[in-house]
Amino acid sequence: MSHHAAHRQTSFPTTTGIKRRTELATSSAQMFSEFSNPNLDVLFSEEQIRDRINEMGAEITHDYAGLNPLLIGVLKGACFFLSDLLRAIDTRLGIEFMAISSYGSSTRTSGEVRIMKDLDVPIEGRHILVVEDIVDTGLTLSYLLANLKSRGAASVKLAALLDKHERRQKEVEIDYLGFKIPDEFVVGYGLDFAERYRNLPFIAVLKNPDA
Ligand code: IMP
Ligand code: MG
Repeated sequence: MSHHAAHRQTSFPTTTGIKRRTELATSSAQMFSEFSNPNLDVLFSEEQIRDRINEMGAEITHDYAGLNPLLIGVLKGACFFLSDLLRAIDTRLGIEFMAISSYGSSTRTSGEVRIMKDLDVPIEGRHILVVEDIVDTGLTLSYLLANLKSRGAASVKLAALLDKHERRQKEVEIDYLGFKIPDEFVVGYGLDFAERYRNLPFIAVLKNPDA
């Protein structure tokens, strides 16, 4: 078994998980494993995420056939979702990235938004699909969507993997949603806590952010 395969096997609870963990107890890779970090509670597995994204991709393929949409990913968190989603969309499309900084603590947004990296192309007349990892207060997205609409796009829609709806302060319409989640701080699959955990292949609740 390759190192990588061994690693992934221990990521999720299986009937033989305990045995495997014991077998690998001496390996330093296991000792430093992020994927089996005890501070994480798996919320959506790799497979659940993939299945849901395939469904979203099929829906987007249907809705955007012949429209040559421009998918805009919001750096950095949405890159992972975007890269999987666009491979599930079987129609001609383009991609662009924007970077936005919202001021606040590492777990909460303040509502002040600044564009750190803008688009490289005009979007007048284009069908825009913004791709975001999570909608929390909605402050970041409501600012971004209004900004893109003001540039004369033919349409501006939103695909978000996660919706923490209980926390909404500004109404944001999510046209394509992966999963609704409770008000918990989640990490993985692009989502970070102070830049950590983006590399988890699953989405997990961070049990104690201070640990
Ligand atoms: P909003 O403006 O409050 O909707 O904030 C959205 C941004 O906050 C997301 O793009 C994330 O970067 C960050 N964020 C909100 N909730 C979480 C979470 O549970 N985990 C990781 N990042 C989060
Ligand atoms: Mg973030």
